[in-house]
This record gives sequence, structure tokens and C-alpha cells, in this order.
Amino acid sequence: MERIHIWVLSISFILLLPLSNSVDEEVKQTLLTFFQRLSNGNHSADLSFGWNSTSDPCDDRWKGISCDPRSSSIKKLVLENLGLRGTLDVRSICTIQTLGVLSVQNNFIHGELQPEIENCQQLTHLYINQNQFSGHLPDTLPGLNNLKRLFIYENSFSGELPDLPKISGLVSFLAQYNHLTGKIPKFDFSNLQGFNVSFNNFSGPIPKPTGRFDDSSFLGNPELCGKPTSKQCPNSNLPGGQQVPMLGI
Ligand SMILES: *[C@@H]1O[C@H](CO)[C@@H](O)[C@H](O)[C@H]1NC(C)=O
Ligand SMILES: *[C@@H]1O[C@H](CO)[C@@H](O)[C@H](O)[C@H]1NC(C)=O
Ligand SMILES: *[C@@H]1O[C@H](CO)[C@@H](O)[C@H](O)[C@H]1NC(C)=O
Ligand SMILES: *[C@@H]1O[C@H](CO)[C@@H](O)[C@H](O)[C@H]1NC(C)=O
Repeated sequence: MERIHIWVLSISFILLLPLSNSVDEEVKQTLLTFFQRLSNGNHSADLSFGWNSTSDPCDDRWKGISCDPRSSSIKKLVLENLGLRGTLDVRSICTIQTLGVLSVQNNFIHGELQPEIENCQQLTHLYINQNQFSGHLPDTLPGLNNLKRLFIYENSFSGELPDLPKISGLVSFLAQYNHLTGKIPKFDFSNLQGFNVSFNNFSGPIPKPTGRFDDSSFLGNPELCGKPTSKQCPNSNLPGGQQVPMLGI
């Protein structure tokens, strides 16, 4: 009698285990590392945000985290306007493969966007605008096949754009106020709802047709030419190597 009782208890305990939906210890450690680097070790931020090893990111609603309630997987990480002064540790956060939204807009985050961003394969929204990011955008960025919105505006990114038109589902790319250079890659503007590269240092002809986008998406790039800007491209720079016929000769 006693033995059956214990046996039943143990079975029900084992059956109940998978129902206690807490986040993996490993995922929790990853988040803690990420937050520490993001807040530059500012412990007052850590305390008020609930990011500590004695609580659960989903059940205890850590600041900025949204989870799928059934699987306890991390879906969104949104930490906007918080005065965060550290770096974005993509190497750690992108080991969490369920992440769909990553927004740290309007903080003071510095450093580069690391190439491991590519491991965030489920990412649909990446908002790192209005920070102090610098360096080149990683060549792995176009590997984010599910990306819809990419906002990098008001940072100090430099160098050329990677092959972003490769991301077929991209609907918005906002990059104004950086130090980006080189040609604008051949976006299919008809697929885009938002596009802005104003106040960079892009050069050469703007790919055609630009669809709904007028001059205001391309302002402040003195070396850009062709429609919709008012600056004509030199003949040799016409896209597709077209030649203007020499009239009357
Ligand atoms: C630390 O974080 C708190 C809360 O976000 C913020 O008010 C404070 O300015 C931060 N201190 C530093 C030195 O970043
Ligand atoms: C850990 O965070 C929880 C909220 O998520 C809070 O209730 C608890 O006081 C925190 N513990 C410490 C030691 O800061
Ligand atoms: C902008 O790019 C041109 C080359 O296209 C270069 O000569 C110039 O120095 C750049 N200006 C800035 C401010 O980076
Ligand atoms: C692009 O950004 C510039 C600078 O903020 C702004 O003046 C312009 O209106 C923007 N254009 C569009 C289409 O968003």
C-alpha cells in the first residue's frame, strides 16, 4: 500500500515536470551575459529590470523580454530609450534561435554589429537606430532571410552596404545619418514601403526605378546622381552601360 502510494507520487511528479515552463538555465545565463554587456555592468539597471539569476525571464517578466507562453521561448527583446551604454553582444544573444524582434533603439550603444547576427535566423525586426554603432555592416547581414524591417539610422556606420537586396521580404530600410559610402545596391524599390539613405556619403547612379521614393530618401549625398535627384550622371556612369546617342553627328 505504502509502496504504491510512493510510486504514484513519483509518476505524477515526473509527468508534471515538463509542465513547469521555466526558461533553460543556459538561455538564462546567455541573457544575463547579454544584459551585462548591454548595460555596461550598470548594476542599478540590472536590479530594477529584474535580470537576475534567481528569477525566470518569462515567468517573472524581465524587462524587455516577451515569451511564447506555451513553450517559454524568447520571442522579443525590446529595450528602447533606456540610456544603455554598453555593447550589443550578438554572439551571445543570437544563440537564442527563437528571437524574432530585437530592438535597442535610442540608447548609447557603441561598437560594431557583429557578423554572428546571422545566427538570429528568425529575426523579422532589427532596430538598432539612434545609437553610437560604428564600423562596417557585416557581410552576413543579407543572410537574415526573414528580415522585414532594418533600422540603422543615426549611428556612425561606415563602409559599403552589403547585398541587402538579397533579402526578398525586406519592406523597410532606414539608414539616414551614417557615414556609408559606395554605390547603392540594386534594391527592388517596388517591394519597399520605407527607404531612406539621406545624409551619408553614397556615390554613383541611383538604381532605377525608385518607385514611390523621391529625392527626400536620398538627400545629403553629394556624389549621388540620377533621378530622383536633380544631379545628372556623367554619360559613362549611366546604369547598364547605356550610351546617350550623339545627336546630329
Ligand atoms: C544606470 O542605470 C540607471 C537606470 O537605467 C540610470 O538611471 C543611470 O543613469 C545609469 N548609470 C550609468 C552610469 O550609466
Ligand atoms: C530578481 O528579480 C525579481 C523580479 O524578476 C525580483 O523580485 C527579485 O527581488 C530580484 N532579486 C534580486 C536578488 O535582486
Ligand atoms: C565621400 O566620398 C568621396 C568619394 O566618393 C570622398 O572623396 C570623400 O572624402 C567622402 N567624404 C566624407 C565626408 O567621407
Ligand atoms: C529621410 O530622412 C531625412 C533626414 O531625416 C528626412 O529629411 C527625409 O524627409 C526622409 N525621407 C523619407 C522618405 O523618409
